[in-house]
Amino acid sequence: MYDFKTMKFTSVSCFLFFCLIILIIPSCLAYNVVNFGARGDGRTDSTCAFLRAWSSACHSTSQPNVYIPRGTYLVRTLNLNGPCKRRVEFRIDGTLVAPVNYNAIGNAEFWIMFYKVSGVNVYGGTINAKGHGYWSCRKGGKSCPQGARSIQFMWCNNVLLKGLTSLHSQRVHIGIGYSSNVRVENLKITAPSGSPNTDGIHVQNSRGITIYDSIIKTGDDCISIGPASANMWIEKVGCGPGHGISIGSLGHSLNEDGVANITVANSVFTKTQNGVRIKSWARPSGGFATNIMFRNLVMRNVGNPIFIDQNYCPHNVCPRQSSGVKVSDVTFKNVKGTSSTQAAMKFDCSASNPCTGIKLHDINLTYNDRLRRPAFAYCKNARGRHTGKVFPKSCI
Ligand SMILES: *[C@@H]1O[C@H](CO)[C@@H](O)[C@H](O)[C@H]1NC(C)=O
Ligand SMILES: *[C@@H]1O[C@H](CO)[C@@H](O)[C@H](O)[C@H]1NC(C)=O
Repeated sequence: MYDFKTMKFTSVSCFLFFCLIILIIPSCLAYNVVNFGARGDGRTDSTCAFLRAWSSACHSTSQPNVYIPRGTYLVRTLNLNGPCKRRVEFRIDGTLVAPVNYNAIGNAEFWIMFYKVSGVNVYGGTINAKGHGYWSCRKGGKSCPQGARSIQFMWCNNVLLKGLTSLHSQRVHIGIGYSSNVRVENLKITAPSGSPNTDGIHVQNSRGITIYDSIIKTGDDCISIGPASANMWIEKVGCGPGHGISIGSLGHSLNEDGVANITVANSVFTKTQNGVRIKSWARPSGGFATNIMFRNLVMRNVGNPIFIDQNYCPHNVCPRQSSGVKVSDVTFKNVKGTSSTQAAMKFDCSASNPCTGIKLHDINLTYNDRLRRPAFAYCKNARGRHTGKVFPKSCI
């Protein structure tokens, strides 16, 4: 016999059952910070909840996923320590904010640190360090805490950081140190042009780093590459405002490992203080920069579009010696656009260690000048060659 009532009941309960499964899956398979006591109200301190969720995911062998749903979460310093049992996924749909009082995170070196994690994917979300108070403290010349980088990967391997928006860091937005095989993509980094030392991404003592398809607007270098870094690929970056993409500063210490095999390609610089730059202090050092490729770059009203500066001297505190850093095999290929200074290309190399193997190919930089004065190239202790059309006329 056909029992209409039972069938109806069965289909309704089936439907409810599936609804339940769909509702449960995200929160039960993931370590949802809300289940650990976090509140997305922008006011409740959720630091402990985040740390507990991390620790549970990190120790999990089945589904090591941390999930941060929509909402605004107030968090202080987060030390996300490894090693973890498996690759951890850290998915942010919400926004993390630091306390308005800059001392809350400013006495630690990092706001959010992944430490000794081998295998982590960080997706999405926004982090806002609210650096304004800290920057005014610095500008006011008061004694301020050291300031925190917003995210740091320290001694990490196999990292993917994708789709994150980082706002108003106290200092460097994203730091990568003593790490390898890190891929960063689709990032948006924003701080005002006048904010001190708010580099977009700073890499040091690391290898195998890729930075792809990201927009960086900041008060210091969009990307800076410190000593002991190798095998880096930077592509499709929009930089500006900011100080450009820099290798260095190098040669601050006598015993320093060099920088090798770096490519910067297909990127656009808009109203930046510099375009692509290698900078070193004018003092003895065993450092070096070699096998560097800059290609397919567009400069829009950029201060020093092409710049090797071995007399790096910020804030007029200069060693005024000769740089020990050896710069060699640096190629600039297909670099076009406008310079906001007349010296569109500057090679200010060390007298004791002249630059060698500088290659220029198809350069066209014009001086954006009301008086229509032509751009020029400046060379000191620079050796190499040029091919194709090079404008301004090469001085190499
Ligand atoms: C240079 O770096 C790239 C990654 O950017 C890597 O694929 C390549 O193997 C490196 N070359 C050498 C000689 O290490
Ligand atoms: C260089 O660029 C300017 C402005 O875009 C253009 O007028 C000029 O023809 C270019 N020169 C060469 C040699 O390509």
